[in-house]
Amino acid sequence: MLNEKVSKLINTQINKEFYSAYLYLLFSNFYDEKGLDGYANWYKIQAQEERDHAMLMLEYMRLNSEKITLEAIDKPEKELETLMDPLKAGLEHEQYVTSLINDIYAEAYAVKDFRTMQFLDWFVKEQLEEEKNAEDMITKMELFGNDSKGLYMLDAEYAARVYSAPSLVL
Ligand code: FEO
Repeated sequence: MLNEKVSKLINTQINKEFYSAYLYLLFSNFYDEKGLDGYANWYKIQAQEERDHAMLMLEYMRLNSEKITLEAIDKPEKELETLMDPLKAGLEHEQYVTSLINDIYAEAYAVKDFRTMQFLDWFVKEQLEEEKNAEDMITKMELFGNDSKGLYMLDAEYAARVYSAPSLVL
C-alpha cells in the first residue's frame, strides 16, 4: 500500500496523462487539416506515448494494490490558428507536466517512499526529453517554417517518427 497522498497524486496523474494524449490528438488533427502529415504523425505518436505513461502509472498502482479511480478526461480546448500555436502550447504543457511529476516526487520523498521515487525517476528523465523535443520543434519552426521548402523538409522529418514502446518495464 502507498501513502494516501502519494496514491491520490498518482491516480490524478493517470488522468493528466490521458488528457495529454487527448491534447496531442487535437494537435495531430490540426496539422492533418492543414495538410502537414508529418506533424500530424509526430503528435499522433506523442499521444500514444502519453497513453503509455498513463498505463505505466496504472500498472504501478495495481502492483501496489491501490484502488484506481478513473475520472472524466477534460476536453482539450486550445485556440490553434498558426502552425506555431500547437508547438508553443506543447512546450507549456510539458513544463506543467514536469511540475506535476516533481510534486509527486516531492510527496514521495517527504514520506520516505523510495519505491515510488525509483518508479518516478524514469518520468523525471522522460520529462527532460519531452521538454527538449518541444523546444527543438519551436526552434526549427522559427528557423525554417516560414519557407515552404523548409516547412516541407520539416514535415518530412516528422513523418519519419515511428512509435516505440516505453523503455520502462514494471
Ligand atoms: Fe507524459 Fe508528455 O509527458
